[in-house]
Amino acid sequence: MNNKKEILGQYFTKIEIVQRLLDLLFAYKKYNKKIKILEPSFGTGNFIAGLKEKKYFDIDGCEIDKKLTENPCDFIEMSLTKKYDLLVGNPPFSKYNLTESYYLLKKYIKSKVWPSLYLTPKELKKDKEKIENIFILKSLNHIKDKNSSIGYVLPISFFIKNKNKSVKEEILKCFSTIIIYQNEKIWFDQNIPCCFAIFTNIKKLENKIIVIYENSVKNEEVFDIKNIHEELIPQIIFHKNNGYIENDKGIPLKEFLESKNVKVKKSYKENNVSAGNILEKDKIPANEPVENYKLAVVRVGNASVGKCGLINIKNDVLNDMFYIFDLKDQYKKDRQIKENICQQINRKIDYFRNITCRVGSKSIKKEDVLNFRVSI
Ligand SMILES: C[S@@+](CC[C@H](N)C(=O)[O-])C[C@H]1O[C@@H](n2cnc3c(N)ncnc32)[C@H](O)[C@@H]1O
Repeated sequence: MNNKKEILGQYFTKIEIVQRLLDLLFAYKKYNKKIKILEPSFGTGNFIAGLKEKKYFDIDGCEIDKKLTENPCDFIEMSLTKKYDLLVGNPPFSKYNLTESYYLLKKYIKSKVWPSLYLTPKELKKDKEKIENIFILKSLNHIKDKNSSIGYVLPISFFIKNKNKSVKEEILKCFSTIIIYQNEKIWFDQNIPCCFAIFTNIKKLENKIIVIYENSVKNEEVFDIKNIHEELIPQIIFHKNNGYIENDKGIPLKEFLESKNVKVKKSYKENNVSAGNILEKDKIPANEPVENYKLAVVRVGNASVGKCGLINIKNDVLNDMFYIFDLKDQYKKDRQIKENICQQINRKIDYFRNITCRVGSKSIKKEDVLNFRVSI
């Protein structure tokens, strides 16, 4: 296997991160040291080491790669008769452009552990599904009772609004408390945007989602469980609540912009406007009709997202990186407002970097641009 690291999702959680995650888990959920624990994809074994350090010794482990263990085992094939008080670890994540990294139904259709026992009707209809989702669904069938918990490192994209709905619904059938944790550290040898999700039942926190972002302090926000399909990304919620959206200062751009799409000439190769030169276009040339100028905001790319310029709808050719907005009728010929808005966005491009989670091909939302506040 050439790209084994990507196919099997071999990103091992740093031991100091594991220790923090376990501390967090046991701070919320009290267990005695005798509980039965499963690490379903232990890799180099850091979670198991962290658990032993805390004097938990009744631990089963599973790891598919024979280079990492003498007894390789595929968690998906593990008998469902095995039940645990706690399942904890960092399951593999699928890479969106790498089919082999997905759970392929055909591979398991003849397994002794029937897929229909752990997949929902929705997943059963799909040929492939993200491996992390399958790990969650199967784990739900390995919990012992109401006092059991699952604590998994998950890609942050799991908690994007309206994503993975059927998996989230299944989780809610077993658990009424969800804790989602992120901090500013890098958890693996590569920076993969992820979080630690604890699915559990805690009387005092029944029907609650606790979202925690830890930088120098622990910032906590509590939501009702009915918000499960909303965007629950700790870092973004933290930034939204801490000055990046100045709640009472300025007027949201939606007061000035039309929300409908503006058609523009696009070319991948022959564009004259790209994220690379958009910042130069913050003025409308004196001899040009102002109404031809529309607002272009870069919607993708780590370095450029949020950069903005005024493009000429008649002459300019753009690449695919932009949202294009027109202003409402009363402002279409207002040069000053157009230039002013453009400059105010560019003064705060950090806003878009901080309030938006960009994973894979995901871009900022149009809504985020329309909610940006300006002082006019
Ligand atoms: C993201 S790594 C995490 C390892 C470890 N939990 C940690 O945090 O350091 C995922 C691990 O899952 C293993 N793996 C992938 N598919 C598996 C499967 N079906 N069953 C068991 N292990 C699997 C990979 O080989 C890899 O070591």
